[in-house]
Amino acid sequence: MAILTNKDGIFILETEHTQYVMGVGTDSILYHIYWGAPCKHSDFFALPGYEKSSNHSELDLAKTEYTPFGGTMYRDCAFKCTYADKTRDCVLKYKEYAVQGDTLHVFLEDAAYGLCVKLSYTVYPACDILSRSATVCNNSDADIMLERAFSAEFSLPSRQPYHIYNSNGTWSGEQQKVVQELACGSLQFESRKGISGHGNTPAFIAAQHESETQGEVFFGALEYSGNFKVSLNRDAFGITRALIGVNDFDFSHTLHKGDAFTAPCVHFGFAESLSDMSNHMNDFAMQHVFPEPFRDEPLPVLYNSWEATEFDVCVEEQKKLAEAAAKIGVELFVMDDGWFGERNSDRAGLGDWTVNPEKFPNGLSELIDHVNTLGMDFGIWFEPEMVNPDSALYRAHPDWTYHYERRTPNELRHQLVLNLTKPEVQDYVFDCVDKVLSAHNIKYVKWDMNRPFSEIGTENLENGKMLWYLHTQALYAIVDKLKARHPQTQFEACASGGGRCDFGAIRHFDQIWTSDNTDAIDRIHIQDGYSLLYPTKYMRAWVTDLKWHNPAPLKFRFNVAMQGALGIGTNLLKMSDEELALCAEQIAFYKKLRRTVQFGKKYRLLNLERDELSVNQYVSRDGKESVVFVVTPSTRFLHHCFSIRLNGLEPDAQYRVRICESVFEKSGAFLMNAGIEQEISGQYVSQIWTIEKL
Ligand code: GLA
Repeated sequence: MAILTNKDGIFILETEHTQYVMGVGTDSILYHIYWGAPCKHSDFFALPGYEKSSNHSELDLAKTEYTPFGGTMYRDCAFKCTYADKTRDCVLKYKEYAVQGDTLHVFLEDAAYGLCVKLSYTVYPACDILSRSATVCNNSDADIMLERAFSAEFSLPSRQPYHIYNSNGTWSGEQQKVVQELACGSLQFESRKGISGHGNTPAFIAAQHESETQGEVFFGALEYSGNFKVSLNRDAFGITRALIGVNDFDFSHTLHKGDAFTAPCVHFGFAESLSDMSNHMNDFAMQHVFPEPFRDEPLPVLYNSWEATEFDVCVEEQKKLAEAAAKIGVELFVMDDGWFGERNSDRAGLGDWTVNPEKFPNGLSELIDHVNTLGMDFGIWFEPEMVNPDSALYRAHPDWTYHYERRTPNELRHQLVLNLTKPEVQDYVFDCVDKVLSAHNIKYVKWDMNRPFSEIGTENLENGKMLWYLHTQALYAIVDKLKARHPQTQFEACASGGGRCDFGAIRHFDQIWTSDNTDAIDRIHIQDGYSLLYPTKYMRAWVTDLKWHNPAPLKFRFNVAMQGALGIGTNLLKMSDEELALCAEQIAFYKKLRRTVQFGKKYRLLNLERDELSVNQYVSRDGKESVVFVVTPSTRFLHHCFSIRLNGLEPDAQYRVRICESVFEKSGAFLMNAGIEQEISGQYVSQIWTIEKL
């Protein structure tokens, strides 16, 4: 039973290995009671309410489940609003609950003002994940102005300080993991750019005694691609709390009579190690978040011509690249930026989504037919939320961008952001992409977004601060509508590399462009950070030419990129026959492994920074196959022999292990406890071990 309630006003939510418990106090406040490994149901009882004194507010001490600002609440809280009579004090008391399948709704209300907050919790027992969100409803006749409406508040069980994980990234340096102890005060991670961004990740991970194989890890990830805020604090009594939701740095949302605002979902869980956390989230994403049509299909090996040609695309060269791509085993040929309007550089053309007649005198079909004849699918690049001032679209509709009449807009990459809160702009964006997809056999769209918002004026909105949230909702609605109209077309979320990497993107797209940085060594770090919470299948990873800093050999670059959804971005027309043969061999090998990689359990066995080697193991869903990637730019101090203990195998089963030329058999127990001693030394070492259950 996933949801239990009892007459004492206790709600117990259970997954296979987790319990999350709340209860209504004698003061009608909804309190958080417990989160962690399962206990006996009878252990939980209703809370009596908290004592107050002039030194400590009772609310400030209590673990309230969704705390509004007001009264004697002095710490950071989940909710804040202003009522029509200027009251900025909210009192949320428990009203009732309802259970629908695996979802529990708990209704809180501020009866004096007709404000209702519905907290909804869904339980996914087999994945060990829960989701929660908050819907705020105005049941009064007067307006209510929301100033903060976070998705969730969490109180963590231990009074010891937690290690807090997040990323501290940038363009070309996404997902760089940072761990810091939160002893007092607060930590905040956020985005203010309009997208979830390259900097911090919209999630929290709070861990104690953690490692890849043990510990106590509490985590939650927001399903949202816009501005977010994650705030964690630890008080003088040792209680650590986490708040997560839509960023309120420039937020307000007007609720008229009968209106509702639903904060994005947070998917959260408790795990007994970092690897368990990653695997729970990976399972959950695969089973409950990936969009339907391609959920169970591995992603194809793609070739993207961007790095080979940049804006200088033309039909003849693209056809030649396609021929070369087909020969090495590519399944999806993608033409990136530069095919439309006057798009000869990043200075012009965005917004004009018609085929450039000089580059494609016979239209796109000539290239697409050629690609299809070669046995590959065709994919194409769009950046639909943007416009270059030097474009027909901007000349016709300068008022379609976010702007202020008396300010000069900041152009970044010579472009401006379209005001997606306007219905006519939404229709235009949908129609442009729809027309191209309807007229051609296109199986993939790379949906890019290459600049942060600025001059965020929206003369069309009564409350301009709603733009951030409405833009993100409009994006989701357009993509969903396009996907419904073109169910055979996959969509990739890209924002100057990995600027839109979040569970919102995972819900609405089929893959994520992880980073523009395709340097194999940098990618090891980026992929490592990514893998904490995000699903392997969605991690697009390309092998490119050596335009980045590390001179990694081709096979090494492949072995790093093969740890996600493999793509190729080299200039195939400049590669030697030997190099092309190596590409063909590696792609064929990847196709054999990719189900295990894209859908399997993942174990981060050794970490490059800490252990000299990066070693990641993937185990297929049926447990019959496993693959281990061992890569290092260089061993050190004459180290030449490493001991690597595997994970995720059955102790009593027998396995055949293949490492380079050597083949041997061992039990799962031996491989996991004694491990494998392997000679590894030198520069740019990359090995792939395969393990087969006998
Ligand atoms: C962004 C993307 C790249 C490429 C270019 C095209 O930078 O991240 O992969 O598509 O735009 O202009």
